[in-house]
Amino acid sequence: MISKVKSCALAGIDGIIIDVEVDLSSGLPAFDIVGLPDTGIKESKERIKAAIKNCGYTLPVKRIIVNLAPADVKKEGAVYDLPIAVALLSLTGIIPQTALEDYMICGELSLDGEIRRVNGVLPMAIIARDKGIKNIIVPKANALEAGVVDGINVFPATDLYSVVKHLTGEQVMEPVSVNVDEIFSDKDFYELDFADVKGQESVKRAVEVAVAGGHNILMIGSPGSGKSMIAKRIPSILPAPTFQEALETTKIHSIAGVLPENVSILKNRVFRSPHHSVSAVGLVGGGTVPKPGEISLAHNGVLFLDELPEFTRQSLEVMRQPLEDGKITIARVNASYTFPANVLFVASMNPCKCGYFGDVKHRCTCSPNDISKYVGKISGPLLDRIDIHIDVPAVQYDMLQDDAKAESSADIRARVQKAREIQSVRFKDERIFSNSQMTPAMIRKYCAITDDAKEILKTAFESLGLSARAHDRILKVARTIADLEGAEQIDFNHIAEAIGYRSLDRKYWLQ
Ligand SMILES: Nc1ncnc2c1ncn2[C@@H]1O[C@H](COP(=O)(O)OP(=O)(O)O)[C@@H](O)[C@H]1O
Ligand SMILES: [Mg+2]
Ligand SMILES: [Zn+2]
Repeated sequence: MISKVKSCALAGIDGIIIDVEVDLSSGLPAFDIVGLPDTGIKESKERIKAAIKNCGYTLPVKRIIVNLAPADVKKEGAVYDLPIAVALLSLTGIIPQTALEDYMICGELSLDGEIRRVNGVLPMAIIARDKGIKNIIVPKANALEAGVVDGINVFPATDLYSVVKHLTGEQVMEPVSVNVDEIFSDKDFYELDFADVKGQESVKRAVEVAVAGGHNILMIGSPGSGKSMIAKRIPSILPAPTFQEALETTKIHSIAGVLPENVSILKNRVFRSPHHSVSAVGLVGGGTVPKPGEISLAHNGVLFLDELPEFTRQSLEVMRQPLEDGKITIARVNASYTFPANVLFVASMNPCKCGYFGDVKHRCTCSPNDISKYVGKISGPLLDRIDIHIDVPAVQYDMLQDDAKAESSADIRARVQKAREIQSVRFKDERIFSNSQMTPAMIRKYCAITDDAKEILKTAFESLGLSARAHDRILKVARTIADLEGAEQIDFNHIAEAIGYRSLDRKYWLQ
């Protein structure tokens, strides 16, 4: 006698259908699960047995073999507790086998039969819908995630007993419904707004340029100068995400299990700010069944590394490739897993170890050697991914006393949006969407500059000793500055401003 029900595994950000087959045969009573990694099988069996018993049913005294197919897909055990229990109960005649045909079932059981949340319910519901499965039973704690998927009934389950009653038709659960249009109709929803940031016009301008062209940015300034305050407000000036973008970001959060219970979809641009003690795996993802890291959790949003030189060299090193590619690929013996990681990378640092080099009000206690050692920690490969470095001056008292409201995020966002539209027209036949992604060939094609602009670029080069890389970065950023102005050609002022965003190139200790 065999009973079958569908469940799901995860590979990267997508679900893979798993067939849960339970076979009952005569012979010595036994309970075996095949197709799961060894760790976890024992616990699974204990949970299933206890949950069935505690819901008032009895486990058949026979030889039970559970097969999770395909065998070569990496699985994490707990998701299959509920489908295994349901398939077992259909073999004992409690649930009719036909009732399971149109279902995918996912959920972890506790010993008393309660259903606990599992990770990745959103991609599971998507693959179920795509494969024509009509219904999915998921833990109630995750049900809202799945609820945004159209074309499938999502049943929120609290315990094994109510799942049985649902499948026998005795007490049918109400499917969850999420009104996506309503969620997306409210456009202005950021709690933190640039209107709170007084003064600092040049820094805000640099941030606007960064967001408009997708340029990674590093802010350098003494403690209290407002770097963190500004960074946290960057999501509010990014164009609102499309439904598809929001869905992709939400999938990643669903898989990582970090989506709050009352949230169905992340309609805001995300902001992730991992502490500098984060491991390399925590940053870019990993594990036996790979999970996304911070850079993927920030997908379509902002990844902020505060106090950049405090991160380990290894952490900074592993960021390099994903920042370049907009995704991260993790190789395992049988498969490789890809997680999207298209982020605006924002970093901050003090100018030196004590924090006050260049500060007019405090005395810096660092030696030139200390300073070059401190800044040197971030030089090299990662710094190469950052188009804009800007000094953040200490806040002036008068500035804070100024009652006039600064420009709102909505106003800045409107200009960013316009500049992005220009870029999407420019790059409609290329495989990129922002100025920051231009290849050297594209830079030659799209960054025509006036003669006087060429002149100042040459002078800057000779006096600052800029590298060829800095040259290309200046052109890309100048392209964005011109786009913000709606200008076709890059002129003197655009280049001059872009040169100003190479703060670290100008510092003597990096020469
Ligand atoms: N330009 C500003 N306008 C208003 N408040 C500011 C400004 N700059 C700093 N502050 C205040 O100072 C606090 C410390 O700033 P913070 O962003 O933490 O500095 P940093 O990250 O550079 O050390 C902020 O929370 C804010 O209250
Ligand atoms: Mg800070
Ligand atoms: Zn110092």
